[in-house]
Amino acid sequence: MKIIVCKNYEEMSKKAAMVVKDVIGRYYRPKLGLATGSSPEGLYKELVKMYESNDINFLNAETVNLDEYVGIDPENPQSYHYYMQKNFFDKINIRKENIHIPSGSEDKLDEAVRDYNEKLDYVGRRDIQILGIGENGHIAFNEPAFKLNLRTSIVELTEDTVKANSRFFENEEDVPKRAISMGIKDILNAEVILILASGAKKQKAVKELIEGDRLDTKFPASMLHIHNNVVLVIDEDAYGLVGK
Ligand code: F6R
Repeated sequence: MKIIVCKNYEEMSKKAAMVVKDVIGRYYRPKLGLATGSSPEGLYKELVKMYESNDINFLNAETVNLDEYVGIDPENPQSYHYYMQKNFFDKINIRKENIHIPSGSEDKLDEAVRDYNEKLDYVGRRDIQILGIGENGHIAFNEPAFKLNLRTSIVELTEDTVKANSRFFENEEDVPKRAISMGIKDILNAEVILILASGAKKQKAVKELIEGDRLDTKFPASMLHIHNNVVLVIDEDAYGLVGK
């Protein structure tokens, strides 16, 4: 695992954008795995800046997202569809048909799971997968559990995650309790995995990720040890407990 420790969130976002730019520059049809949440927001800002100054082009890029809440409309500002449009897709020249985000539509979940797995098979190995990490070690919405899903599934969010994500909602009760999430096997199906973590709240997870030497389904991010090209870009606050 390559570890890049940055001064702060801004530097982390800039460094991560350089990694993404470097990968995209190598391919005619770059395939990107994307995450939502606070961690990659600055990265998307940097990528948009690069696009605006003609340093990067998304015309032939294809993207797959990690997850979406169940029961929230794509037009709802809390949905991951909305987040991606607002923070990234509306601001770059990607083609609409090349954007893939799982559907969290409550009445057709079986179909959504099947469709998304087919989509992932169709897109194939991504050139880069961007990830955040939950305070409890989740990646996408693969929560600590006795068993982890290999492929896209409907998952129950843990209380910790509902609490952590309530900052994006008016009330904690409004946070959906279920999500549709890419599984571990598909997350790992990328040439490069880029993980971002910022802030003291991520210290424990980051320490476990760096110092852990076992696969532990109770700490889903430990599955990343199987992959041989993981780049962890974090800020000093998130790195704080490493070696202590
Ligand atoms: C988001 C996702 C989640 C987040 C994680 C960290 O698509 O899959 O695993 O990456 O919950 O969230 P932030 O970055 O908001 O701390």
